[in-house]
Amino acid sequence: MQNSILIVDDERGIRETLRGVLEDEGFIVDTAKSGEACLKKLASNVYGCILLDVWLPEIDGLETLKRLRAEGNDSAVVMISGHGNIETAVSATKLGAFDFVEKPLSLEKTILTVRNAIKQRDLERVNKNLSDQINQDLEMVGESIAMRALRKQISIVAPTDGRVLISGESGTGKELVAKAIHSESKRKNTPFIEINSAAIPEDLVESELFGHAKGAFSGALKAKKGKFEIADGGTLFLDEIGDMSERVQAKMLRVLEEQRFEPVGSNAPVSVDVRVISATNKRLDDLIENGNFRSDLFYRLNVIPFQIPPLRERLEDLPALVEHFNKRFSADYGKRPKVYLESAIDAMRNYAWLGNVRELRNTVERIVIMNEKEKIGADDLPVLNPSNAPIASSFRFPSFKEATDAYQREFILHKLEETDGNVTKAAEAMGVDRSHLYRRMKNLGIQQK
Ligand SMILES: Nc1ncnc2c1ncn2[C@@H]1O[C@H](COP(=O)(O)OP(=O)(O)OP(=O)(O)O)[C@@H](O)[C@H]1O
Ligand SMILES: [Mg+2]
Repeated sequence: MQNSILIVDDERGIRETLRGVLEDEGFIVDTAKSGEACLKKLASNVYGCILLDVWLPEIDGLETLKRLRAEGNDSAVVMISGHGNIETAVSATKLGAFDFVEKPLSLEKTILTVRNAIKQRDLERVNKNLSDQINQDLEMVGESIAMRALRKQISIVAPTDGRVLISGESGTGKELVAKAIHSESKRKNTPFIEINSAAIPEDLVESELFGHAKGAFSGALKAKKGKFEIADGGTLFLDEIGDMSERVQAKMLRVLEEQRFEPVGSNAPVSVDVRVISATNKRLDDLIENGNFRSDLFYRLNVIPFQIPPLRERLEDLPALVEHFNKRFSADYGKRPKVYLESAIDAMRNYAWLGNVRELRNTVERIVIMNEKEKIGADDLPVLNPSNAPIASSFRFPSFKEATDAYQREFILHKLEETDGNVTKAAEAMGVDRSHLYRRMKNLGIQQK
């Protein structure tokens, strides 16, 4: 427990005095007379803090500290040092003791040190949890050819400063890839700043991107840095660039060309060093053709293209992804991981996953929360509800074109699967010309096996 303390000292008087004052302060106190006794207690008890005398018979305080750390104990340790051994107490702090108190003990100082030690240990634990969580969120699961190629591409491109444009359907992992590129680059300890191009309010675009000087407009009470300046030295992630308004596109183009800008209301240009990674789930070539995206901006952004295939084109990754999310969410919710039966995995393979990995992740999380069963079969999958089936979900497409594209993609993939990827046979079965099928496949981004 966090507020429990183990006092390790061979002098009975010290043990009892400390016990008294610490109990008065609300701590739960236990004591041990020797290093051995301390290690024995640690085998079956957890303490927030250990007060450890430097001088102990047989194994001394330093050795005890070494051994308890070797056993993976991460309680906060405060050394108690006598006159002659302050040096030892200092070297103990190098071994991971938080601090030391000197005999004769000032009780006030001891209480304060114990409190600080516990607080510090708490913070370290929180910190570790958070960074574990962040690293977990960065894990890229999947051993399909496509995923392996993607990882390889990341490791080649990350160390350069090259601009990357990541394309892929919604939920395929574009942001994950952008963060992986950043964290494998030499900029990894610098900011990763995200701009959702669709979400910037039109009238605040300049101020959002480039910042403003104090008094630049009514309401600008203080100077404010824009995203480009905040990202200086780091990576700027431009998300959903297909939704960028014309005005933002023009601004973006200028700053990318010149690598500098002027904050609103200031005429002192600011130069920045940012690496730009952008992402889109729209087909930019269509947008360019229709005049909705500037081709000059496209070429500036698309120095190194990354294409993330949809989940239904790399179904080999499905079992590993299910396992990954199953383990992760079970741990998050303090439950035992489910066992997915072959029937469930098979059913999942036959589903379209239009929301890709995000949809799969949500599905597995929902099952962890909602399903009490230990074994998950096909019947336990909410996705197989007819109302969620692939065709019905085409209602969620905004336009006729996107709905029919999705349907055609489904249909073609299905036929290709039936013919083992033989395009000629698939075209025959579908009653279309082979060249027509090739063209459709290319347009729909279906890769030939
Ligand atoms: N290969 C993978 N391994 C593990 N988790 C993944 C993988 N790909 C995606 N994810 C997870 O799926 C979710 C969606 O990924 P992400 O946000 O990167 O997708 P996106 O392409 O940016 O989606 P959108 O277009 O909707 O913004 C995230 O929780 C991400 O961590
Ligand atoms: Mg995203």
